[in-house]
Amino acid sequence: MNQLKKAKMVVDKEFKIAEIDSRIYGSFIEHLGRAVYGGIYEPDHQNADEHGFRKDVIDLVKDLQVPIVRYPGGNMVSAYDWEDGVGPKEERPRRLELAWRTIEPNDVGTNEFVDWAKKVNSEVMMAINLGTRGIDAARNFIEYCNHPGGTYWSDLRKEHGYEQPHNIKTWCLGNEMDGPWQVGHKTADEYGRLAQETAKAMRLVDPSIELVACGSSNSKMPTFPQWEATTLEHTYDEVDFISLHQYFGNRDNDSENYLANGLEMDHFIKTVIATCDYIKAKKRSKKQMYLSFDEWNVWYHSNQADKQIDPWTIAPPQLEDHYNFEDALLVGSILITFLKNADRIKMACMAQLVNVIAPIMTENEGRSWKQTIYYPYMHASVFGRGVSLKPAISSPVYDTKDFTDVPYVDSAVVYNEEQEEVTIFALNRHVHESLEFSIDVRSFEGYHLDEHIVLEHDDLKAVNTVDEQVVKPHHNGNAKLDNGIIQAVLSNASWNVIRLSKR
Ligand code: AHR
Repeated sequence: MNQLKKAKMVVDKEFKIAEIDSRIYGSFIEHLGRAVYGGIYEPDHQNADEHGFRKDVIDLVKDLQVPIVRYPGGNMVSAYDWEDGVGPKEERPRRLELAWRTIEPNDVGTNEFVDWAKKVNSEVMMAINLGTRGIDAARNFIEYCNHPGGTYWSDLRKEHGYEQPHNIKTWCLGNEMDGPWQVGHKTADEYGRLAQETAKAMRLVDPSIELVACGSSNSKMPTFPQWEATTLEHTYDEVDFISLHQYFGNRDNDSENYLANGLEMDHFIKTVIATCDYIKAKKRSKKQMYLSFDEWNVWYHSNQADKQIDPWTIAPPQLEDHYNFEDALLVGSILITFLKNADRIKMACMAQLVNVIAPIMTENEGRSWKQTIYYPYMHASVFGRGVSLKPAISSPVYDTKDFTDVPYVDSAVVYNEEQEEVTIFALNRHVHESLEFSIDVRSFEGYHLDEHIVLEHDDLKAVNTVDEQVVKPHHNGNAKLDNGIIQAVLSNASWNVIRLSKR
């Protein structure tokens, strides 16, 4: 019989990376496809609440414990007039939505979205239009949202039925402004200057806000990372975060290579950190720039189908990726990568949340259901709160088309001191072989093993449907704790959550 490959990890509660900002488990709702209309909002649905929001979707979102949701775009925001989405619904205009070539009815806008976010216990991360608009629209918008009253825009909010200010804290200064596809695409200097002056005006209205400058649309952009350097040259003193976006796809059907993309993610993050720190050094600044990875996911299954969609309809089924099991594994690996970089990544948004490249799917007038990627996202969000610990991992490695020395085992550890809980997230990237994993947790005296949750499936291409959840976690993992050492066999291609507590 062949011996199983072995991997080892040592964890010590004193080896801290950082306190995890829970906002790394954020998500995103764009006015795109069926995310809003038919997704979170469907007034004629049998499960709709008094505001037209689907209660079945609210429940699924609440189970994910999503702390912050980015809104309203995405590409859509670069030609969006926020004024279209407030006030009496019957007076709101229908517009051509240029990013996705649909019709936007504006039945949902800022106030409705703030209401919805409260229902799912989330904050709003609001993006402003720096494509077709600029300082003036931004300063008016923040006055409308955050100023208590007694001025034109804040009183208009009150007239619209919102007596109290929304106090939206987090604002994105545009979206993917480096991308030639963006309406109002800019050079880094054009964008940097505009973002700097817009940030200044917005902070004059409300000094308590935090601001995110646009980084590159992905790590393969020809202007990356010069875009970040130039943008930060202009905005370093005005903003708190620089954004990162990245999507993956197994287009060559090379699963070993695909599952190694956590390394690409890590490289991207480290390059952005280096660029931030270079500008910090250049400016002799003491300020630390943080990272907002505010769009990430798998996105490729729907690319062909989207080409068949006719333009200028309301809420067509755009970007409806049906995720398989290997996509869930990669999502797990991405979440592990965020935890390992918890000292610099303080926000991240899975893009997106409902129907559009999403963990949650709905039928119009029908049921809602969980995609494969729902599960690792939920595990990380629910159990991954506390301090991220630095794991010392030694694992056998493999090479692929794009990567060398890819560890078969990827892992992150979260210590929740207050609850006296430890959670180990571990991925076995080996698509054929199980692996023996031993974890030294001797620094956690008096802890015992609560559970070992496993997401596994024989078929990497297995998908969930509205009728059948073929990919879902079970709680029958084999991890054992003895004398401070956990021994577990991680089955081939598996996502594992091993939980300890002192209780
Ligand atoms: O999330 C889908 C799209 O991806 C967003 O609108 C855009 O920002 C990115 O290119």
